[in-house]
Amino acid sequence: MRTVGVIGCGNMGGAILCGLADALAGKYAFCGHTRTPSRLAPLTDKGVVVMPDAKALTREADVVLLGVKPYQVAAVVEEIRPCLDRKKLLVSIAAGISLKRLRALAQDACPVIRCMPNTPALVGKGVFALCLEDETLTQAGRDEALFLFGTLGLTLPLPEAQFTAFSALIGAGPAYVFAMMQGLAQAGVTLGFGHQQVRELVTALFAGSAGLAEARPEHLTQLRDAVCSPAGLTIAGVNALDRAGLTGLLVDAVLAADARGREMEE
Ligand SMILES: NC(=O)c1ccc[n+]([C@@H]2O[C@H](COP(=O)([O-])OP(=O)(O)OC[C@H]3O[C@@H](n4cnc5c(N)ncnc54)[C@H](OP(=O)(O)O)[C@@H]3O)[C@@H](O)[C@H]2O)c1
Repeated sequence: MRTVGVIGCGNMGGAILCGLADALAGKYAFCGHTRTPSRLAPLTDKGVVVMPDAKALTREADVVLLGVKPYQVAAVVEEIRPCLDRKKLLVSIAAGISLKRLRALAQDACPVIRCMPNTPALVGKGVFALCLEDETLTQAGRDEALFLFGTLGLTLPLPEAQFTAFSALIGAGPAYVFAMMQGLAQAGVTLGFGHQQVRELVTALFAGSAGLAEARPEHLTQLRDAVCSPAGLTIAGVNALDRAGLTGLLVDAVLAADARGREMEE
């Protein structure tokens, strides 16, 4: 049985390990190593083996996922490098660490994959971009990465050149969505709903609307128009959004994030 090991089991690394251990119990073995081992205690019930150090984990695992912060990646890869070989896959979720940098750190000891998750991965509803451009990566390696992340959420192979755009739209996306949710919650409180009640209502509204968009093939504008009866209440609200330029604001927000991301890469 192949083994997936995660080094750095904090918010994101821990959530990925937990999600994989839940989904693939009996099909894969799992191990983890993290600086504060007590963080792994809840995962041992799912069969995750706690490894004493990063090197031991790397020797044991076929797929090694780096869940540490970007500034910690170099030190960890340096530490595990002697235990890497061509049969292993090294996967990094560290924001802003390029494939070229990862390969240089690993000194081409094994194929490397870059992954960009977003925060809904913390509750098993993430979207993942995978950069599968390392020339030393085999088809089996590509398939395995797509399979593993595919069990956790929508997973899309993406050229590294589009990673910043993905980060600006999908990585940053939860912040835009929460801002819209907050605005609607504020409106609800203004109209007399209680804070807790409005939070539940708005959360259900977003989940339900996303579910509808997922289930139905119509264009988003058709789904919106279906709510707008002639001379009704919804079209009055939609007109106010259009006058304020909501669509343009959203486009500008994503373009601003993309521009900032490119600036940060330089
Ligand atoms: N959270 C997100 O939304 C998000 C989105 C996209 C990408 N990412 C990427 O995911 C990575 C992790 O982010 P996070 O938010 O999950 O951070 P986090 O919660 O701080 O997790 C990092 C974990 O790594 C552990 N650690 C640090 N140095 C270590 C070492 N030398 N050996 C083993 N474990 C070590 C830390 O231990 P302690 O618990 O002792 O501090 C911590 O548990 C980052 O590279 C980030 O760029 C995160």
